[in-house]
Amino acid sequence: MMPSGSGIWLGSGGIITSKWVPDGPRAKPIAIALATLLFATINVQAAPATKSSTYLPQASPKWLPSFPKQKNVITSWPPSNPKAALPSGPLSTASFSLEGYPTMNEVVTNAAKDPNIIPIMKAIDWTKVPSAPVTSDAYGDEYPASDPYCWWTQTLCTTPKIHYIPPDISICPKAGTWGLTYDDGPMYYWPVTAENSKWAEPNLYDYLLKHNDQKANLFYIGSKIIGAPAAAQRGFNDGHTICAHTWSHPSMTTLTNAEVVAEFYYSLRMIKQVLGITPKCWRPPYGDVDDRIRAIAWQMGMRTIIWDRDTNDWNINGDQVAPGPGAITYATANKTVDNWIKSREEGKDNKNGHIVLEHELSNSTITLAEFWLPTIQKEYQTMPATACNNIAQPYWEKQFIYPIQGTVAVDTNGEPTGVKAPQI
Ligand SMILES: *[C@@H]1O[C@H](CO)[C@@H](O)[C@H](O)[C@H]1NC(C)=O
Ligand SMILES: *[C@@H]1O[C@H](CO)[C@@H](O)[C@H](O)[C@H]1NC(C)=O
Ligand SMILES: [Zn+2]
Repeated sequence: MMPSGSGIWLGSGGIITSKWVPDGPRAKPIAIALATLLFATINVQAAPATKSSTYLPQASPKWLPSFPKQKNVITSWPPSNPKAALPSGPLSTASFSLEGYPTMNEVVTNAAKDPNIIPIMKAIDWTKVPSAPVTSDAYGDEYPASDPYCWWTQTLCTTPKIHYIPPDISICPKAGTWGLTYDDGPMYYWPVTAENSKWAEPNLYDYLLKHNDQKANLFYIGSKIIGAPAAAQRGFNDGHTICAHTWSHPSMTTLTNAEVVAEFYYSLRMIKQVLGITPKCWRPPYGDVDDRIRAIAWQMGMRTIIWDRDTNDWNINGDQVAPGPGAITYATANKTVDNWIKSREEGKDNKNGHIVLEHELSNSTITLAEFWLPTIQKEYQTMPATACNNIAQPYWEKQFIYPIQGTVAVDTNGEPTGVKAPQI
């Protein structure tokens, strides 16, 4: 629903609803089992022969409004004023206007009639968007084993069946590299109490800064940025690479085309309003993506980034507040990470590097992230997933040039950009 009235809202997190659910696969256990079984098969398939030049050309998202520049937010990378770019200490709970945005944490209703969405629907070439069915968990049982739409939730497929959309970015190519990604931020706790706030930002951002000024990809949710705009600005100013993670964190394949467009539009708009940038990368909540969603995302300017390793931190039980009861113990998630590191130490992990799913979501996820970071930094070359894939310019605003692992910077379509980026 579009907001009625003035829509001014104080950014205390107060209207986060109990509908919030964290990441992790949306599939039923049986589908997860199936997907796990199929994973080995998918992995050994040859890389697509498709040349990146055959990908559908993208246009910059002209349908986004322009916004006044926010105070104290960097306008380039490296920033022209590093001192102003690295604030620290407690973050203000800025008030923020919800005007022009849908209800927080809810899929936009009437998206097809939304005046912001109609022009984008017209701009998209729908002949290039496969008409995959709108899914449900029940449909999962009927979904053909041939995987006609490269539906990750069912098969962990990451290489589209359509040749004009690039594969999802799912690994770091170079062995010994750890693509650091934190989803579902910016992190704040509701209700805001002293105890809860201990785990809210800037907790993790301070920790990263203190540990070798470590950079990561932050996959921000539009609805959460409204609740914590200062935290979003802090993460961005610190030099983390921001990607979109939808407006309300739904399973994207369950939505109509107009709803999908609205989820992308409002998350991109919120990011542009608060940070002044337009990401060329996004991550599907629960990994739920198929070729219909990929094709819409691509035409709206974004490459899909997924992961090949899941800490399952989103599923840890015992947190006192949201996201609610999980199915595993902290010790189990802890052991998962430990085993990865051991296998690298033992020389059993030499094929490629990894993109690892972590969250800035709760006490447990922050605790796990911070506990392991120093060890990860010792054992791996640790950097954002975009950096290990040599994407120096992750936004449509090209004056942000981040360090990359290799020597040749590429665009999100894999083509060299010719820009000189520092090497990590
Ligand atoms: C996490 O794993 C490390 C390394 O094995 C271990 O030292 C630590 O006690 C574990 N923590 C928990 C709470 O399980
Ligand atoms: C935070 O999470 C850790 C790991 O799950 C747990 O041991 C600890 O008790 C939690 N602290 C609070 C205040 O919830
Ligand atoms: Zn998520």
